[in-house]
Amino acid sequence: MNPMLNIAVRAARNAGRILLRYHERIDQLTVRDKGHNDFVSEIDRAAEAIIIQELRSKYPDHAILGEETGAQGQGDYEWVIDPLDGTTNYLHGFPQYSVSIACKFRGKLELGLVYDPLRDEMFTAGRGQGAQINDRRIRTTKRPSLDGALIGTGFPYRDQRHLDAYLGMFKVMIQETAGLRRPGSAALDLAYVAAGRTDGFFELGLAPWDMAAGALLITEAGGTVTDLSGSDRYLDTGNIVAGNVKIHLEILKQLKPFLSDNLTA
Ligand code: IPD
Ligand code: CA
Ligand code: CA
Repeated sequence: MNPMLNIAVRAARNAGRILLRYHERIDQLTVRDKGHNDFVSEIDRAAEAIIIQELRSKYPDHAILGEETGAQGQGDYEWVIDPLDGTTNYLHGFPQYSVSIACKFRGKLELGLVYDPLRDEMFTAGRGQGAQINDRRIRTTKRPSLDGALIGTGFPYRDQRHLDAYLGMFKVMIQETAGLRRPGSAALDLAYVAAGRTDGFFELGLAPWDMAAGALLITEAGGTVTDLSGSDRYLDTGNIVAGNVKIHLEILKQLKPFLSDNLTA
């Protein structure tokens, strides 16, 4: 395995151990409200600290963008970290959350991992090297159309500016597919597209650390990831559509009638 990916895997496993240790004791956690429906616990911070410590010890010159600590340093390499993706689930004892770590080189995604500590599933990808789950190669599905498709999504529960547009999208996707799923960890939702467990995914208003690793997993598994207008600016706009090549195009087509200027810019 690529040595940098190896280090990231070790960091993710350490963070996963912290998440599992406190999973049974969530009532004892100190939870702070970062904004409307936006919670952070001491566990998010402890998990991020252990990841950064591990990465910094090997790569002191690399830049870091962590959800809880923000941007630190500058350089060709930048690590993008979500130490606990699915905090709302975690704080309710709902068993679906993950650790997400990606690394960019000069702005381009170079490696990514999403780790599900509850199932001990490690999804990894390196640019040009394919995607794996626990070292087994994964690929997106071969489904040719939305007919019979299972699609993941996330609800805009924090920033609700685009709620009406989203509800329009939700309705048409219910009508056109076999089912929608809202598991609650966007990084893991994207990993599931890469692993062929769902055919596609869409969500509005995500942050780079929710998407970076999962997006690389999908492209390395043969799928496509864009924003709502079909461009590769999803890490900037926060709006993402992903799937196998055909499903991705079908989702874009179905969502188009609901796009306003501020959803495509
Ligand atoms: C959230 C999860 C969720 C998505 C939210 C994200 P967090 O991340 O990925 O599935 O719908 O938009 O913010 O806050 O649990 O790290
Ligand atoms: Ca997140
Ligand atoms: Ca998080």
